[in-house]
This record gives sequence, C-alpha cells and structure tokens, in this order.
Amino acid sequence: MIKSMRAGVLMMGMSAGGLAQGTPAIGLPPPETTGGMPLMQALKARHSAREFADRALPPQLLSNLLWAANGVNRPDSGKRTAPSARDWREIDVYVATAEAVYRYDPPTHTLVRVAAGDIRALTGVQDFVASAPLNLVYVADLDRMHDADAEQQARFGAADAAFIAQNVYLFCASAGLATVVRGLFDPVALGKALRLGSRQRILLAQSVGYPARP
Ligand SMILES: Cc1cc2nc3c(=O)[nH]c(=O)nc-3n(C[C@H](O)[C@H](O)[C@H](O)COP(=O)(O)O)c2cc1C
Repeated sequence: MIKSMRAGVLMMGMSAGGLAQGTPAIGLPPPETTGGMPLMQALKARHSAREFADRALPPQLLSNLLWAANGVNRPDSGKRTAPSARDWREIDVYVATAEAVYRYDPPTHTLVRVAAGDIRALTGVQDFVASAPLNLVYVADLDRMHDADAEQQARFGAADAAFIAQNVYLFCASAGLATVVRGLFDPVALGKALRLGSRQRILLAQSVGYPARP
C-alpha cells in the first residue's frame, strides 16, 4: 500500500505539527471530502467486523480514512473532524501496515514513519490483528493535556480517542470497509513497538480492511 506512494516521500522541515527537522514523511493524496453515504444510512450500516480480505487499501482510500478519523476540517484554526477536550488535539493516530508503522500528522496530511517492519500482531491479542491490512492505534500525549490531573487525563483522553474511533466506524460503513475498535492489547509491548515515550498512553486500537465476504 505504502510502496505505491514512494513518489510522495518528502523530507519534512519543522511544521505546525511539530515534525522534527529532516523527518521522512509520506504525502497522502488530498482527501476527497465530498460524497459518501448519507449519514443515516451510514449509522444504519455501522457494525464491528473481525474478518478481513488480504488486500491493502489504496492510497486515496487511506487518505480519506485518516482525514475522516482526525483530519483538519477547518484550516483557519487547524481544528479536526473529531472534537477534543479543550482543543488539546492530544490523540495521535498510529498506522500499522504490513510494511511499517507510521504516525498520521493532520496539519500536513502526511504519514511520518516511526519504525520499519510489520508490528500488526502487537496491536492486539486476537488472531485477526496480525493480518488485518491496517491497524490504527490511538495514543494520548499527556504533555498536550495541560492543567489536567491524572483522572481528567484518563477520562478526556478516552473520550477523545472514542470520537476518532466512531469517525472511522462511520467512514468504513460509508466506504464498504470492515472495522472493529479494540481495547485489548499489551500496552507495554505495543508501546515499545511504537517507540512511545513515558508521557504517551495507548487508549484504543482499531483494525480496518476490506471485508472478507463483501
Ligand atoms: C471500548 C471498546 C473496546 C472494545 N474492545 C474490543 C476488543 O478488544 N476486541 C474486539 O474484538 N472487539 C472490541 N470491541 C468491539 C465490541 O465488542 C463491539 O462494539 C460490540 O460487540 C457491539 O458490536 P457492534 O460494534 O457491531 O455494534 C470494543 C468496543 C469498545 C467500545
């Protein structure tokens, strides 16, 4: 999936998203932000599915999915498709594929490579996660949740991650994709694989792919 986007590899300088100087990032095609299924139909179709076809998502679909998840929908303010408590924007969406793991950077709509290799099996404890084409992982950065105590960080972080997960559910319903949000994973092993720091917390994961049986 990502291989076909190699032409879009950029060397990013410092951006509003805080990318480090010289971080390799993969540009996504601009998201298609019109059309889709009517909302009431998408709500009717939303469901969890745990069987996926062995087929990667094309770049345009990945772009649309990530924008729907937590993309910038108001460029003037940088605000997102999902709400966040006090506009902290503290949830990062990590994207684990068969090739590598990336962090989605909403301001630049790019994927920043975090680590090479296939860590999909570490994103959960169920068998299907190892072969689901895409596993999204929602990670809160506590350093962005200023003036909040530990209880508020936990509560607001969980809520903010859940809004993103529901955006993904509705996008998948609209696009005919299969998905399931997941709370079961080994946070220590997954945190290591994602190279997280001591102030980052994994809140949820979500598998996405084409349905095994359309
Ligand atoms: C916070 C949360 C955690 C969940 N964790 C898992 C999980 O670890 N594995 C899994 O297969 N499903 C998980 N689910 C999916 C639920 O099992 C599913 O939403 C529920 O059975 C209702 O089915 P539906 O989504 O099709 O309505 C989770 C759902 C939520 C909201």
